[in-house]
Amino acid sequence: MTVLTTQRLVLREWTEDPADLARLFDIYSRPEVARWLGAPGLPLTDPAQAVDRLAIWRERHAGHGGRYGIWAIEVRDTGVVVGSVLLQPLPGRDEGTLTEDIEVGWHLHPDSWGHGYATEAGGAAAARELAAGTREVYAVVAPGNEASMAVARRHDPCGPPLGLVRRRVPGDLRAARSLLTRPTTRPAPAVRSAWRSW
Ligand SMILES: CC(C)(COP(=O)(O)OP(=O)(O)OC[C@H]1O[C@@H](n2cnc3c(N)ncnc32)[C@H](O)[C@@H]1OP(=O)(O)O)[C@@H](O)C(=O)NCCC(=O)NCCS
Repeated sequence: MTVLTTQRLVLREWTEDPADLARLFDIYSRPEVARWLGAPGLPLTDPAQAVDRLAIWRERHAGHGGRYGIWAIEVRDTGVVVGSVLLQPLPGRDEGTLTEDIEVGWHLHPDSWGHGYATEAGGAAAARELAAGTREVYAVVAPGNEASMAVARRHDPCGPPLGLVRRRVPGDLRAARSLLTRPTTRPAPAVRSAWRSW
């Protein structure tokens, strides 16, 4: 099911189609992707885990009525699935209860880096959330993840690279804010990893 379309992309539900599951495994089994996500069970090690991962995502967002989720990013011209974009409530300090803070995120297959797909997909997802009335959307980036930091900065080229800042973003993205100070308020990446969950 299509969630959003942009100039070059369709954001849609991941499916149990074998091609989707193979691509999902290919993305989330890669250390260069999984290392930044800090999610339990990643990287995937067996293709059979793709269907389990999909089930986890579906269960997590079952009550969200399609507003939040982890969606496949498909290139309209080629049909290639380049990765995922996520939009979801951030968990609170107890690491379980969801807050009203909404996170946007991006996970791309390395073969699709360098085309602006993460920026385009993340921007569209965040714009939809802002249009629905949410005042700020957060990007949470691990220390050292310069590629992801760069995506966040593309939405706010004038903002400082670090800090809890109000971020200006182009187009419909009126105001997003980046939680880039999380690492300093939540000390160790390991702790942070436990807190984060994709
Ligand atoms: C983070 C990640 C999504 C960034 O991917 P990316 O492709 O570099 O990001 P974008 O989609 O914004 O693409 C920007 C790049 O595309 C280029 N580009 C090409 N065509 C473009 C276009 N039409 N529009 C915008 N950028 C374009 C830009 O110049 C830029 O390349 P550069 O960094 O060499 O200058 C990717 O590295 C990734 O998936 N990493 C692993 C998972 C991860 O860390 N996720 C984030 C967790 S917080």
